[in-house]
Amino acid sequence: MTPLVEPVVPVPSTAPAASAEVLRPHAEEAFAGELAALAAQDDRPRPERWRMSPWAVATYLLGGTLPDGTVITPKYVGPRRIVEVAVTTLATDRALLLLGVPGTAKTWVSEHLAAAVSGDSTLLVQGTAGTPEEAVRYGWNYARLLAHGPSREALVPSPVMRAMAQGMTARVEELTRMPADVQDSLITILSEKTLPVPELGEETQAVRGFNLIATANDRDRGVNDLSSALRRRFNTVVLPLPESADAEVGIVARRVGQLGRSLDLPAAPGGIEEIRRVVTVFRELRGGVTADGRTKVKSPSGTLSTAEAISVVTQGLALAAHFGDGVLRPADIAAGLLGAVVRDPAADGVVWQEYLETVVRERDGWQDLYRACREVAA
Ligand SMILES: Nc1ncnc2c1ncn2[C@@H]1O[C@H](COP(=O)(O)OP(=O)(O)OP(=O)(O)O)[C@@H](O)[C@H]1O
Ligand SMILES: [Mg+2]
Repeated sequence: MTPLVEPVVPVPSTAPAASAEVLRPHAEEAFAGELAALAAQDDRPRPERWRMSPWAVATYLLGGTLPDGTVITPKYVGPRRIVEVAVTTLATDRALLLLGVPGTAKTWVSEHLAAAVSGDSTLLVQGTAGTPEEAVRYGWNYARLLAHGPSREALVPSPVMRAMAQGMTARVEELTRMPADVQDSLITILSEKTLPVPELGEETQAVRGFNLIATANDRDRGVNDLSSALRRRFNTVVLPLPESADAEVGIVARRVGQLGRSLDLPAAPGGIEEIRRVVTVFRELRGGVTADGRTKVKSPSGTLSTAEAISVVTQGLALAAHFGDGVLRPADIAAGLLGAVVRDPAADGVVWQEYLETVVRERDGWQDLYRACREVAA
């Protein structure tokens, strides 16, 4: 005999674990202290429903020191003007499109902007070739729909719809990977600021404070181009590659330090010299010429972004911590370098060999790196 009421099977909790256990806390949690200090000391005018003024948002991204001495760490390293334009756009009726080659911090900037402006960076739609229109507009809870017909209770709002209703910042990642018709469902939202629900004869109108940040990758251009109708609804801000080697070394060192702490890796002494070498290799291969401008080198097929340099060094730190003496040495980064550069074994292998023999081998003080790279390649 089956019981009338099925026994309750405990469902694993999906509630967020204590933030210390979360592998990667959201920006608004990781930097809660900085955000609170900024909001408290900010006496400039705030756009409606913004947690702080545009000036304070820019300070949160670029770093600075507050009147009471609180230090705001820089999140984005790059031209101040870019951040100012991005933040200002969010206070207008145009949406923000962050464009750039892979690894230029588009996702990172988008998350931090949403965290500072709305205190919530999680109203996020991930764009892929398979993103359905429901992910941008709304879907239905089919059990409720069948039981009670279309109703508010059966409607499952998308993150964009929730952002509209609450006057928050919505995020769309990799906009140009979504099929064109799904992209176009954003047009009414961005121009009319409303999302009709014909099934209910209702609409959700965006309240003040709503805006949207989209990111798109330069390399995806041509996969699903942005329609001109949609492009007109966006202010486009292009995020550049770091302008100098020093800037890039600084970005990598800072992020590696943060990631190392969250992975419980001990700080590796001497790391900065190896970071500088990784960044130099990346920049030379990316640019097709050595830092002194004397020797042309071939570029491999991969992007060799700052983000990948961060991964190479983090992996090296883990190797040094677990299998070495805790000091970041050339042997710890050689495998990562090889993996980042040689994506296509046939074509990139030749490029890497040539670079090793003509540049790394000949450079003063780089023989240890040369030997380490030869060893992993063997
Ligand atoms: N200029 C920069 N300032 C600060 N951090 C940077 C910068 N450039 C890259 N980074 C770091 O690179 C990492 C990767 O960035 P992110 O994932 O945002 O890149 P992306 O542009 O979204 O790449 P993709 O096109 O592959 O999605 C982040 O950890 C970020 O901290
Ligand atoms: Mg991204």
